[in-house]
Amino acid sequence: MDKFYVTTPIYYVNDVPHIGHSYTTIAADVLARYHRLKGEDVFFLTGTDEHGAKVAQSAKAVGKTPLEFCDEVSRKFRETWQLLNVKNDEFIRTTAGFHEKAVQKILDILNDQGLIYKGEYTGLYCVGCEHYYTPGELVDGKCPLHMKTAEMVSEETYFFKLGDFQERLLEVIKSGRMVIEPEERQNEVVSFLEKEKLTDLAISRSKVEWGVKIPFDPSHTTYVWVDALSNYLTGIGWPENMKKFNRYWPADVQLMAKDILRVHATIWPALLMALEIDPPKRLVIHGYFTVNGHKMSKSLGNVIDPASLSGTYTVDGLRYFILREFSFGQDGDFSIPRLHERYNKDLANDLGNLASRVLAMVERYNDGAVPEPGPDEEADKKLKQVVLDAFSKVDDQLKRVSFNEALASIWVAVNEVNRYVDSTAPWVLSKEGKTQRLNTVLYDALESLRLISLLIYPFMPSTAGKLYSQLGFEADIEKTDLKKAAVWGLMDRNAKVRKGDALFPRL
Ligand code: ME8
Repeated sequence: MDKFYVTTPIYYVNDVPHIGHSYTTIAADVLARYHRLKGEDVFFLTGTDEHGAKVAQSAKAVGKTPLEFCDEVSRKFRETWQLLNVKNDEFIRTTAGFHEKAVQKILDILNDQGLIYKGEYTGLYCVGCEHYYTPGELVDGKCPLHMKTAEMVSEETYFFKLGDFQERLLEVIKSGRMVIEPEERQNEVVSFLEKEKLTDLAISRSKVEWGVKIPFDPSHTTYVWVDALSNYLTGIGWPENMKKFNRYWPADVQLMAKDILRVHATIWPALLMALEIDPPKRLVIHGYFTVNGHKMSKSLGNVIDPASLSGTYTVDGLRYFILREFSFGQDGDFSIPRLHERYNKDLANDLGNLASRVLAMVERYNDGAVPEPGPDEEADKKLKQVVLDAFSKVDDQLKRVSFNEALASIWVAVNEVNRYVDSTAPWVLSKEGKTQRLNTVLYDALESLRLISLLIYPFMPSTAGKLYSQLGFEADIEKTDLKKAAVWGLMDRNAKVRKGDALFPRL
């Protein structure tokens, strides 16, 4: 059985879960659900990144211990994913004991290989934040949070010989062993690695207490990135459960926004090489959600809360919108009027209305029973072809992680069914007593809806399930085997369809 291992970044607990995080997480969920439907052995990992001076600071500000603070925020992330119907296989926290132990083991391995040395780190430091800033992060030389001038300070620290990996990193990327998508992003990384000399990486802090202790010098804690990146390994069992680890590694798709590409294209594969572990197969990089052109983040105070939006537009409405509206690689400005428009047009009208129209006609003209179709006419053949074609298109588009194109392909099918119903006009067939033709049209419309429920399932699982049960199926749509189900003619002749509630009530 094929396996599929997909990850999101683990999110910082000094933020609140917002639409930006939801974007990556829902994207991963769609891939995970799609691959499960194809019968693959899927592992989907997400989690929270909980160490570092800033976290300790945030905890102090609200009168909590760092761990209490992390427990609370981490729970908020988990609750948000549950609310958004995200089905991850594991939720990793970097404060988990097994993770901390594994990070120490990684550091010991690097140290044993001679890849770590003690040195002096010099940088611009804000005492208020207990944090080093790069000159670009400062505003007029001042820390953006405290508005205090950052001081140039030095401290003793351990370095990882990242600079030694420059050539090997280029080779891993250029050879296609680790693919970065979209291609522009890969080119960016390659040209960076070709032009700039990689410097060694400070991987410990003696001034930060809230972190994983360096095993060979407990007066230091581990730099958050080494701690955080390791989650992709520890979350699938490394080093305790190597059977599980070997089952899922290398990651098939690692999703993230462009802000953390460089770290994932340099430090991450270098760490893996040092551990003699293969690189991930693909890093798939998406753009930012912006609000009026600014990246959404807590510090800018412009976050959009997914929970409140899903209250108005439904969870599936939100899942649909964020993946339909923008191409995955590009930035996109989040607009509530656009969400409103797409909800009413694509969901309430095109899909919801279609389903209720067809189901109501089957109730009215055939007492809710699935009719026996007669011979095909041209219109029926065309319908079948368009609906079945959507499966191969979506498969190809999801392989390329192009969600908006996949949804567009599904809507080609949805609109074709709408056209089919309009042009075959079952209400006229009924009036004229053309029963056999009426039965064929109703059957074909039902069958198209069954196939559409499978197509939309990864994106809108609860709507898909609702539609599937309105079509008279008792089984859980999630348990469907896509290979067997994506063929024409499987409506259950003994089932009764029922109109039920509207899938997307108009707003
Ligand atoms: O970087 N638009 O965590 P983080 C799109 N802990 N995606 C967004 C977004 C936005 N406005 N805001 C956040 C970290 N994201 C580290 C990662 S991994 C080993 C450690 C998403 O909480 C996007 O996936 O800042 C981005 O890469 C991630 O959240 C950054 O999350």
